[in-house]
Amino acid sequence: MKIIIRPDATAACTTVADMMRTVVRAKGRAVLGLATGRTMEAVYADLLSQEARDPVGLSGCTTFNLDEYCGLAPDSAQSYRAYMEAHLFEAAGLTRAQTHVPDGRASDIDAACTAYENAIRAAGGIDLQLLGIGETGHIGFNEPLSSFASRTRRVQLDARTRSQNAEMFAGLDEDVPTDAVTMGVGTILEARRIVLLATGAAKAGIVARALQGPITAMISATALHFHPDVTVVLDTAAAADLVD
Ligand code: F6R
Repeated sequence: MKIIIRPDATAACTTVADMMRTVVRAKGRAVLGLATGRTMEAVYADLLSQEARDPVGLSGCTTFNLDEYCGLAPDSAQSYRAYMEAHLFEAAGLTRAQTHVPDGRASDIDAACTAYENAIRAAGGIDLQLLGIGETGHIGFNEPLSSFASRTRRVQLDARTRSQNAEMFAGLDEDVPTDAVTMGVGTILEARRIVLLATGAAKAGIVARALQGPITAMISATALHFHPDVTVVLDTAAAADLVD
């Protein structure tokens, strides 16, 4: 595992955007695994502005998002599909056919999850998987006690995650959906390359436990130690609890 510490969040996000651009440039029609959340907004903004100045072929990529809430209305502004359209897909010229977000409204969720796994495989697997980390140590929405072998499935969100994400639901924890569909830890570990980004002091504790604590299913991010090509990009605030 390689750890890169940048002076601030802007620099950390640029480092991640640069890594994504390197893969897209090298691969041509790359398959990108994408994350949502506040941390990623600056990454996508940076990707779009760099693409406008010096295109590497972002519009030719295929994408798979990590997760989606269950039970939101189809046109809900809080859905992760809506987030991705607003922050990346529309401006990057990525069409519906190129972009995949788990279906949190499918009538048969299990079948939709199997289809999602099959679509990743049919695309040739993920070249680069972008990850954030939640306060529970989740990657995707793999909350504590997710099996390291887990696949795309329906999960219940931890109360801490619902609270962490309440800002997008007018600050009301109870309005955050209780369930979501997420790629599994096992699915994530099959990506050829993984980049985890964490910024801000609120992430310092969980980052230290994920990177330097014991490997445990209580912190899904510790599974990343089993992957041969992981880069963790932090700003100094998120790196503050790491010990030399
Ligand atoms: C979102 C996702 C989550 C977030 C994590 C951090 O698609 O998979 O694991 O990356 O909850 O979220 P922020 O960036 O809002 O702190």
